[in-house]
Amino acid sequence: MEFEIIRLSVKDIPFVVEIEKKCFSSPWSERSFKVSFNCRTAFWFGAVSGGMLIGFCGAYIVPPEGEIINIAVDPQFRRKGVGEAMLQKMLDSCCEIAHIWFLDVRESNVAAQALYKKTGFNVAAKRRDYYSEPPEDAFVMKLDLNNRRLYDADPFI
Ligand SMILES: CC(C)(COP(=O)(O)OP(=O)(O)OC[C@H]1O[C@@H](n2cnc3c(N)ncnc32)[C@H](O)[C@@H]1OP(=O)(O)O)[C@@H](O)C(=O)NCCC(=O)NCCS
Repeated sequence: MEFEIIRLSVKDIPFVVEIEKKCFSSPWSERSFKVSFNCRTAFWFGAVSGGMLIGFCGAYIVPPEGEIINIAVDPQFRRKGVGEAMLQKMLDSCCEIAHIWFLDVRESNVAAQALYKKTGFNVAAKRRDYYSEPPEDAFVMKLDLNNRRLYDADPFI
């Protein structure tokens, strides 16, 4: 499947919201995306195939750190490398200003954890009862681009 990764802007938010609703039990509202897209520390990328948005990835950058705040791929386009391509684009585009990256992920979200581990993230900590709807612990995952070890077998650092 062919797709390209583009920088997203406010006009893309309605399409982002459609994907968000398909992917999360407590999705961000359109208003939340508007606030984030207008934040000067936020970066948003999307994947486009056949003129359609099929995924998105957002991060906040406060040098030298970056935080992945959201990533999702439309269910019908998963396992085709879209999530990995968006995440890698984010890391590559911001590597001059951010080399230490963090993210939170549900303990049960093995698909996302596998993506993050493939990209070089490792589990750094656990936050008890971090999520609601449904309640769940979070893994905090960390990637230091200056010390990246891909496919690390040991998830704990
Ligand atoms: C997590 C998500 C973004 C992955 O997107 P994707 O486009 O399907 O991922 P990719 O095809 O790029 O996969 C890259 C790697 O991630 C891992 N991976 C992705 N989905 C996986 C799954 N269901 N099971 C196991 N590993 C998986 C694999 O290592 C994969 O590499 P491989 O295909 O060579 O084995 C997607 O499943 C999604 O949108 N989930 C719902 C939203 C979500 O949970 N977001 C994360 C919030 S923290």
